[in-house]
Amino acid sequence: MSDTSSADILNRRRFLGAAGLAGAGAVLGARPVKADDAPKPDPLITEVQDWNRYLGDGVAKRPYGMPSKFEKHVIRRDVSWLTAAPESSVSFTPLHELDGIITPSGLCFERHHAGIAEINPADHRLMINGLVDRPLVFTMDDLRRMPRVNKIHFLECAANSGMEWRGAQLNGCQFTHGMIHSVMYTGVMLKTVLDEAGLKPNAKWLMLEGADASGMNRSLPIEKALDDCMLAFGMNGEALRPEQGYPLRAVIPGWEGNIWVKWLRRIEAGDKPWQTREETSKYTDLLANGRARWHTFVMDAKSVVTNPSPQAPLRHKGPNVLAGFAWSGRGSVKRVDVTLDGGRNWRTARIDGPVLDKSLVRFYVDFDWNGQEMMIQSRAMDSTGYVQPTKDELRKVRGVNSIYHNNGIQTWLVRATGEAENVEIG
Ligand code: MTE
Ligand code: CO
Repeated sequence: MSDTSSADILNRRRFLGAAGLAGAGAVLGARPVKADDAPKPDPLITEVQDWNRYLGDGVAKRPYGMPSKFEKHVIRRDVSWLTAAPESSVSFTPLHELDGIITPSGLCFERHHAGIAEINPADHRLMINGLVDRPLVFTMDDLRRMPRVNKIHFLECAANSGMEWRGAQLNGCQFTHGMIHSVMYTGVMLKTVLDEAGLKPNAKWLMLEGADASGMNRSLPIEKALDDCMLAFGMNGEALRPEQGYPLRAVIPGWEGNIWVKWLRRIEAGDKPWQTREETSKYTDLLANGRARWHTFVMDAKSVVTNPSPQAPLRHKGPNVLAGFAWSGRGSVKRVDVTLDGGRNWRTARIDGPVLDKSLVRFYVDFDWNGQEMMIQSRAMDSTGYVQPTKDELRKVRGVNSIYHNNGIQTWLVRATGEAENVEIG
């Protein structure tokens, strides 16, 4: 496969000659126009269309703008058999429909343990107690009068790719990798709030507690709390969405999603970790030898090719754009390598857009496809030098008992038809 040449770039366009007027017919490969194929004029060029003829909606007809009706397929999706009840379940981000590094608020995957709490911000309180000099209660207005910051970070659920531990399972990056989103948060640094309460010297851990019906709580070590954590009331320039914890959520950059407590109502300072239900029975990683990893907070470097993928087959021969995401909970993404032939040859992908700390990066490979079968993989390397492992390398160390922290390399088989499938190279 060669890199894009100028001749390929010409192939991407339709000329306004006979072939161009012959109509849409976007089919695999360019077909030569036969002499008896009298070129039919393309009505999309020759006829006046309705949208060109009639007045459209006036301003304020759409007081809160929504995506075009032609984008109806771009939605969060769930997997009905995965969980018993929708109130304690997950919906997945349609990664294959996104671009850039920001997830639109309405497409951010959701993970709730007891449904979406609907809280009037006027009735919301954040309490800080435990090993502090001054136990405090903040209203949302109080928080909005404290020094404010904006940061872009990814949030990945520890169970992302969890169904893939024992082998290729779900057909689509939305389902294999869609428990991740990346937005710009607005709020205050957690340190600012803790400074106001005054941590006692023996305060080593915080307990974060949500106001939803699950009363979800997690232990957070004080070093991380004082480093880069935030209390966010905004995302993507507006208020948090109810699904994401409106009016207040914890932002714990680079760490597993479970600890990003939504509808945050209480922070207690203590001298040791709490042993909450989330920490003892759920978010632990059972190893093959029967022992379990505990407090595996950090999400290691990972990447996925989103296009092509099972939900986004290839439609054209010739020049194509392969696209994907990479991220690391330990810093920034340094490099992403991509193979189209199951690992025989690797090329370095082109990272485009901002490369930020503990945030998604966007990568591309511009390539030619002549209809051959491909085995596509991507491999991320982060600023610590860590390289994303294969799934088999992970299984050797961790076994297959846990559903958490699967950051192994994903493989898509692209067939000659352009359709793609979730596979593993054995
Ligand atoms: N916080 C509360 N209060 N209740 C919850 O159910 N789910 C956690 C975390 N915070 C949860 C919560 C889990 S497991 C994840 S992965 C993230 O929120 C999901 O965040 P999101 O819904 O914004 O994607
Ligand atoms: Co989670």
